[in-house]
Parts: sequence; C-alpha cells; structure tokens
Amino acid sequence: MNDLAPRKQDLDPIETASRDEIEALQFHRMKRSLKHAFENSPFYRRRFIESDIHPEDLKSLADIARFPFTTKQDLRDTYPFGMFAVPQTKLVRIHGSSGTTGKPTVVGYTAADIEYWAALVARSIRAAGGRPGDILHNAYGYGLFTGGLGAHYGAEKLGCTVVPISGGMTERQVTLITDFRPRIIMVTPSYMLSILDEFRRQGIDPRATSLQVGIFGAEPWTNAMRAEIESAFAMHAVDIYGLSEVMGPGIAQECVESKDGLHLWEDHFYPEIIDPVTEKSLPDGEFGELVLTTLTKEGLPMVRYRTRDLTRLLPGTARSMRRIEKILGRSDDMIILRGVNVFPTQIEEQILKCRGLAPHFQIELTRSGRLDDMIVHVECAAEMAAIEAREASAKELIHHIKSVVGVSSKVKVSDPGAIERSQGKAQRVIDNRPKT
Ligand code: DLL
Repeated sequence: MNDLAPRKQDLDPIETASRDEIEALQFHRMKRSLKHAFENSPFYRRRFIESDIHPEDLKSLADIARFPFTTKQDLRDTYPFGMFAVPQTKLVRIHGSSGTTGKPTVVGYTAADIEYWAALVARSIRAAGGRPGDILHNAYGYGLFTGGLGAHYGAEKLGCTVVPISGGMTERQVTLITDFRPRIIMVTPSYMLSILDEFRRQGIDPRATSLQVGIFGAEPWTNAMRAEIESAFAMHAVDIYGLSEVMGPGIAQECVESKDGLHLWEDHFYPEIIDPVTEKSLPDGEFGELVLTTLTKEGLPMVRYRTRDLTRLLPGTARSMRRIEKILGRSDDMIILRGVNVFPTQIEEQILKCRGLAPHFQIELTRSGRLDDMIVHVECAAEMAAIEAREASAKELIHHIKSVVGVSSKVKVSDPGAIERSQGKAQRVIDNRPKT
C-alpha cells in the first residue's frame, strides 16, 4: 500500500460495487449494445444473420459466446467507414491503428463515445494516483494514434493541467519536465527509457524530478522493467492498457496501491479469454487471448473483438472489477524458435537480470539452412563497457535465456546508444528470415 491511492469517496460507485451489480449492469448494456449493432450496422446485421443468432438470444452474459468474433481483418475489409453503426455525420472523431504497413484500420467516435472514453481515462489516471490539479506531462503521440488525444481528454476530465508535448524531441521533454514540474507522466515505457538517457546525458539526476507517477502502456513491458524505471526515477510505474479498435487507452488500468495487474473497466467492456487456436472460451485464471465486447460504444460497437493480446483474467482486488495480468505479448509477436514459443517480454526479463546490460534491445531472427536463429542485440550498461565485461554479460544472458526461456540464442552486446531508440512503441523484433 502507499498513500497515493484515491479515497473511496472519490471513486465511481461502480468501481467498488458488488459483482452482482456489475453483472446486472453488463447484461443490461450488452443487450442494448447487441441490438444497436444489429439494427444500425449492416456489417453486424449480416454477420449475426449468417451465424443464425439474434440479440434476443442473449439470455445471460455467458450467451455472448454464441455470437461471432470480430477481427482486424473485418475492419480492413470494410475500410474505411463500413463498420460504423451511426451515420458519418454523427461521428466527431476518427482515429486509426498504429500499424506501420498498409492502410490504417479506422475507428470512429460519437460525442457520447468521447465522453465515456474521457471518463474512463480519468478513472484510470485516478487509479494510478493522479488527482485534480496535477500537472500531467503527456508524451504519447498525438494524431491518428489514440494514445495522445485519449490521455489528453481523460486528464482534462479529471482536472489535471495537461502538457500536450506528444512524442519526440527528447531534449525538450527533459527541459519541460524540469521546468514545469509535472507530478504525472504518460508515455510508452520504451520512450521513458529514452527520456531517462537524456536526463543522464544532460547530467540531471532523474531521481530528483518532480515526477511521482508514470502511466505506461501501448506496448508490452514487464515487472522487471517496472522495477528498473521505478528505481531510476524514484517514482511509481503503473500499467495502462487499450487498443484503438475497442476504444484506445483506458480499457484497463493498474491501481497504484496494489500494482498487481490491470483492472478491466467491466462496466464498459466485457472480457473473455479464448484459446487462440480452438477459439474455445477458457475459464478465469487460464492464459489465452483476450476478447472484448464493448457495452456502451455507439459509433463502432465491437462484438467479441479478438485483440490477439495474451493474458488471463483474475479476480478483483483494489476494485471489484476483474483484472487482466500484464500482457505477455501479442500472438502476432510470438517467435516460434525450434518449437519453443518466445515472447520479447521474456527476453526483456532476462536482460534486466544482467547488471552489465542496459534495457535497450532488439531481437533479430535469421535463418541458416533450415533452422531459425535468434540474435539478441542489447547495449552494455555505460559503466560496464570494457570488452571483458561485455563478454561476461553476453554469456550470462545466453545462460538465462537458455535456462528460463528454454532456447539457445546469440547475444551481441553493443555500445551504449547503438540500439535505435523508440519515440513511441518500440520495435522489438526484426525478422530477417527469407520470406517463403
Ligand atoms: O496502443 C492504445 C494505448 C495508448 C494504450 C496509450 C495504452 C496507452 P493501438 O495503437 O491500437 O492502441 O495498439 C493496441 O498495443 O492490442 C496491445 O498489443 C498493445 N498494448 C496496448 N497497451 C498495452 C499494455 C494503443 N499496457 C495494442 N501492455 C494492443 C501490453 C499493450 N501491450
């Protein structure tokens, strides 16, 4: 426990409601949302008819499993506006996915959607320890990406003073953090590490900043990385989750007093975990792919959206709503190396165990003959730059990866600053295997 937790009277009543109350609200909203999708989105109408299911068939929350999934491909197939459940004139904003190739997947929000989104991000910032009156440095990118504007509206709604700096211009980030003295920062964890480098480069002690809480998300990161950031900045680091297809940041948030996974805001989203291969529902506690159904969205209701994010559902703790465990990774980012599944987060954990290494890394995949190889490119810690120290660190990392993750790897330890820095989401995997 720490003294940053909000007072109970400042929470939304539903955050501490009983499970029965939460489920009653979910059922009421789910029914209404399925009806809205069926009646107003030609896409869903067709889908439901093809699957021989009707919103009236929903007799309990569990019946959602009878409805068809929605995937990113559906958004691509209906690009740009084909999945909306309101006329375009009712949309007040468009966002897009952050995919780097091809056309973005497009999402749209009505005025009411933006209101709910802001309220949920405000709730998230409060759970993280933010309060009205705080100065909040928002280094998530502004633009089609939902991070910048999503965080911005939520922070304003809570009553914070927002510094809308967006990502990039790292020197400037350090100047403004030093001069404006924000209490809260919102940024991707990998970009926070770039900011950390810049503090050190400028000779400013990162532990002496005004920052008390960092709200980090938009990419997978580990508890080991939390410990690294918390000690480097002498601040609390909590996790925020979301995806543009379902809303944006603020779908789930870790509470600063417990830091034990992210409470999923179940009054607006209904979570399921499925086996990504068989597509069968899995019980709480089992690992699988997170599937989300929106309960209140007007512009783009999502029915059983397959997030591709791997996690598990856990009971509520600091709030009554269920938690998701920190995301292990996206199924798309899973590396299958000689039959073993490997996620970049597992490599991150091992790197952070090695004192001689800095937490900047990329994983390169290559192929020699018929076998795939994994090369972990990682930087040495500034004070451990001697060749012998690097060799020892490389050996140590190879050993940890072999004994904990279970695969053989090569490790290349480079100079500080050699790995490309992220200004938003880090690219962890470089696939140099020949295309088959
Ligand atoms: O990344 C929304 C967001 C912005 C979340 C700012 C948190 C903070 P997209 O660009 O659509 O939206 O990417 C969504 O990013 O499916 C996950 O794979 C990954 N992701 C988001 N948050 C987390 C997190 C935003 N806390 C995709 N941990 C998601 C792990 C995350 N992965």
